[in-house]
Amino acid sequence: MISQQKYQILSNRQIHGNYYQLRLKCEKGFKNSAPGQFVMIHLSDNYFPLLRRPFSIHNVFQHETGNFCFELLYKVIGKGTHILSKYQANQWIDILGPIGNGFSMNNSIQSAFLISGGIGVAPMLFLVKYLLDNGTHCHVFNGGRTSEDVLCIDTFQSLGVKVNIYTDDGSAGTQGFVTDDLNEQINTQAPDILYACGPQPMIAKVSDIANKNNVPCQVSLESHMACGMGACLGCAMPSNDSHTSYFHVCVDGPVFFSDRVNWTRFSSQI
Ligand code: FES
Repeated sequence: MISQQKYQILSNRQIHGNYYQLRLKCEKGFKNSAPGQFVMIHLSDNYFPLLRRPFSIHNVFQHETGNFCFELLYKVIGKGTHILSKYQANQWIDILGPIGNGFSMNNSIQSAFLISGGIGVAPMLFLVKYLLDNGTHCHVFNGGRTSEDVLCIDTFQSLGVKVNIYTDDGSAGTQGFVTDDLNEQINTQAPDILYACGPQPMIAKVSDIANKNNVPCQVSLESHMACGMGACLGCAMPSNDSHTSYFHVCVDGPVFFSDRVNWTRFSSQI
C-alpha cells in the first residue's frame, strides 16, 4: 500500500565514484514491497527541486537490531541526486511509496537471467534475493561503461549467484555490451525468463533477443516522472496493446512484459 511519510536515514554512503547507497528505517509499509517497485522522494523542504524523484527499491531486509530497513542505490547525475547525496544519518526524508507493480514471479520459474546496465542494477539485488528464496536459479549479467559503473558484484557472488561482467572499455570483465553474447548464453542454458533493467537501447536489445528465442522477458522501464500517480502523463510509454496507445510507467509499470512495449515508437520519442 502506498503511503507518504518521513523515514529516518540510517546511512547514506558513497560506494564508489558517483554511486551511493541510502539505507532507511521502515517500521511498516516496505516490509511487504515487491522487487521492481520504486519510491518517489521529496528531496528538499525548499521549492527546489519541486518535483519528487523516482528511485528503485534496491533491498529490503531485517537489520540485526530487529528493525526492518530498505535501501536505495543511486547515481549522482544532477542537482536532485546531488542534494540526496548530502543527507546524513539520523535525518528524516519524505518518501512516497512503494509504487508500481514490480516483477511478476511464480513457482514454475526454475531459472532466470537478470540483465542490467549501469544503475539499472538497482532493483536486481532485491529481485535476486526473492528468486533465490523461491528456489530459482539465477544468473546475473551486469554491464557498464567502465569498472566504476559495474555494481553489486561481490554481493551477488556472496549469494552464490554466477555473474558475467561487461564493460565498454574492458576495465572489468569482458569488453563489450552486456547483450553481446546473450543469444549464445540463452542457447547454452535456456532460462525460463529474462529480467532486464537499464538504458533503453540495452533493454530494447534484450527484448529483441528474448523474442527471437521465444523466452518471456520482463523489463523495468526508467522514465521521467513528475507525479508517480498517473496524473501528469509525464511517463507515457508507447504500447503494443490493442486497447491503449500508451502506458503510464508509474501506474501501469514500471515492469512490463517486453512484448507489450512498442520499441520502435519508444526509440523515436527519446
Ligand atoms: Fe505522472 Fe506517471 S509520473 S503520470
